[in-house]
Amino acid sequence: MGKIGHDFDPLSSRYLGRIEAHDSNEDRLNQLKVGDFVTAQISRFDPAVDTKPYFETYRVPYVKWMRVLDVLIYVSETLGIEYAHRWYCGVKKCGTCAVRVNGREMLSCWEPALPDMVIEPLRHLPLVRDLIVDREPYERRVMELKPLLVRTKPYLGLPEPITDREMRAASYAMDCINCMACFSACPVLDLGDQTDFSGPAPLVQLAQVALDRRDGMDRSVLIKNTASIFECVSCYRCEEVCPVEIPIVSRVIEPLKALAFATKPAENKHQSAFLDIVNSRGRIDPSALILKTQGLRAVLNPARAIRLWIKGKISPVQTFFGSAVPGIEYVRRLFSDVKGAL
Ligand code: SF4
Ligand code: SF4
Ligand code: FES
Repeated sequence: MGKIGHDFDPLSSRYLGRIEAHDSNEDRLNQLKVGDFVTAQISRFDPAVDTKPYFETYRVPYVKWMRVLDVLIYVSETLGIEYAHRWYCGVKKCGTCAVRVNGREMLSCWEPALPDMVIEPLRHLPLVRDLIVDREPYERRVMELKPLLVRTKPYLGLPEPITDREMRAASYAMDCINCMACFSACPVLDLGDQTDFSGPAPLVQLAQVALDRRDGMDRSVLIKNTASIFECVSCYRCEEVCPVEIPIVSRVIEPLKALAFATKPAENKHQSAFLDIVNSRGRIDPSALILKTQGLRAVLNPARAIRLWIKGKISPVQTFFGSAVPGIEYVRRLFSDVKGAL
């Protein structure tokens, strides 16, 4: 389904992240000219002979407007290297060609080639061969969320009397091409078996029906317990990589959380923890939020905690020894004013 009047937002996390990293399409296209060579390190893995993936390096002559997919095709068809990768439409429609290039998820058919590329399969899905992953775990999670419209009012027949405005909330999620880029990028899924979080892509599928005003099913238990939506840490990584620019956090995850919260407010750990932290410190503290919402599971993965610490994403020193911001009394007054008004 095409977009229903969604506004282009040049200040979205997706564009800002890439502009800050000097990684816009314009920056990329300026890095190569005809006559240059692209060096592609491609992840290889054959389950019949290999115990783990390894990289092979290929040099590919650059041609104008060359995409990552063109590099892959050159390697297989012109250099005659037998390796496995998926693609079908070549024009950002089928979602089959997503890979990771230099650590970032992208559609190979849509992104310009770079002088040096490390090309790997998506994460969080079992590796089948070379760049191909098994989508079954994602599909199973989608089915667990029962993304089927459940009508409680009689169907009035075609054409349905429903307006563009009424469909807007669900329509953002309907742009999804099932490419799995967001599923691969989500840092919460790094926890593997230690999290029940369904991940962004299954939530996008759920939002297609849960945010449709014709749906009459109470989905709060599915959203909270089956999808474990409150384990999302709102890092926006999924939005940054989504090739069709779905505002996954603001138009999918937050509305789904609101739907669950509206049904059973007292049971929502993430919001309560968020509010408690801001009320006591006057600011959000990501490590305290993770500890409060994930409990022991958060400390069972020290390597991940150290990585987040090194990258400056969390600050245990602030969490355990930090003090409230100056003027905290004003923040607390706001809290009590809002509570009083409810
Ligand atoms: S915002 Fe939530 S769903 Fe998206 S990548 Fe971050 S943790 Fe995952
Ligand atoms: S939400 Fe975006 S990134 Fe995620 S599967 Fe759909 S199209 Fe791909
Ligand atoms: S080949 Fe279809 S989206 Fe890339």
